[in-house]
Amino acid sequence: MGNIKFLMLVFSLIPIVANGCWEEERSALLELQANIVSSNVDLLVDWAGYNANGFIDCCFWKKVKCNLATGRVIKLDLETDFGTGDGWRFNASLLLPFKSLQVLLLSYGNIIGWTKNEGFSKLRQLPNLKEVDLQYNPIHPKVLLSSLCSISSLEVLKLGVDVDTSFSIPTTYNTSMSKKCGGLTNLRQLKFRGYGINDINILCALEKLSLYDNNFNSTIFSSLKIFPSLKRLNLAANEINGNIEMNDIIALSNLKYLDLWNNNIESFVTTKGSKRMSSLRYLLLEVLIPTRAESYNP
Ligand SMILES: *[C@@H]1O[C@H](CO)[C@@H](O)[C@H](O)[C@H]1NC(C)=O
Ligand SMILES: *[C@@H]1O[C@H](CO)[C@@H](O)[C@H](O)[C@H]1NC(C)=O
Ligand SMILES: *[C@@H]1O[C@H](CO)[C@@H](O)[C@H](O)[C@H]1NC(C)=O
Repeated sequence: MGNIKFLMLVFSLIPIVANGCWEEERSALLELQANIVSSNVDLLVDWAGYNANGFIDCCFWKKVKCNLATGRVIKLDLETDFGTGDGWRFNASLLLPFKSLQVLLLSYGNIIGWTKNEGFSKLRQLPNLKEVDLQYNPIHPKVLLSSLCSISSLEVLKLGVDVDTSFSIPTTYNTSMSKKCGGLTNLRQLKFRGYGINDINILCALEKLSLYDNNFNSTIFSSLKIFPSLKRLNLAANEINGNIEMNDIIALSNLKYLDLWNNNIESFVTTKGSKRMSSLRYLLLEVLIPTRAESYNP
């Protein structure tokens, strides 16, 4: 009797194992590809080709990663080469069949916006979505952020433009546009590069924050007190000038790594009653200041 139960269990598992990926997810991949191709954006892989050749287990298609136990797609790496086409009008519904999706990489996707009511906010229907990379897409950061702010499952979010590229990307995100991005309650890592922002209100509780290449000045440190769990902070290439009050940095009591490269810092000053900073392990500066910073020895 026990053996029969065991055999029944084995047979009930076979369809999943034999088929690999789920039919609905395989056809969703093909539909996604068709959508990208019709937008006239180069896609690096030919998923339709795999299907035509009978190589139907989409878990082994390029740029797709499954949880092999469940056969569900958990990662889609659709980073392209910035195709020459007109740009991709994103349709979030095309991703909703991937119910177990955790990681979505769309950097250099040439995404210029989305079709009506099909913005990234719709991805909040994917309860496991933890990481989204949308760097180097020509979308205005205000539009992009307001669409992402409600995806509460997100832990890692990467946005950014490279001002050195020749792509015509809007790169200004000024204070009058900013608003709180309160829905990203689980965010642990944020990359927000090259937009020229100078307002911290868009951010939530974080351990890792990169604000490389923006317009923050030294008041940023006191603003960052609201992120007590911050461990890594990149403020390279901002407008942090002159004498920096050490106490504001010390208040970030968990900070281990601080990059201040490519600013214009003259010295670190400490007022009476300063405590030593015990957590900091790495401090990157382009010029090391020997004076008061020397007594400061993490
Ligand atoms: C977006 O994709 C969904 C799913 O394929 C489709 O039903 C819908 O018509 C598309 N929306 C637009 C505006 O193309
Ligand atoms: C901020 O952006 C808005 C909208 O683009 C613009 O009207 C305003 O002049 C900008 N403000 C500054 C200080 O650049
Ligand atoms: C630093 O930036 C803040 C916020 O934009 C601004 O209010 C302040 O005047 C700036 N301070 C200096 C010294 O530039």
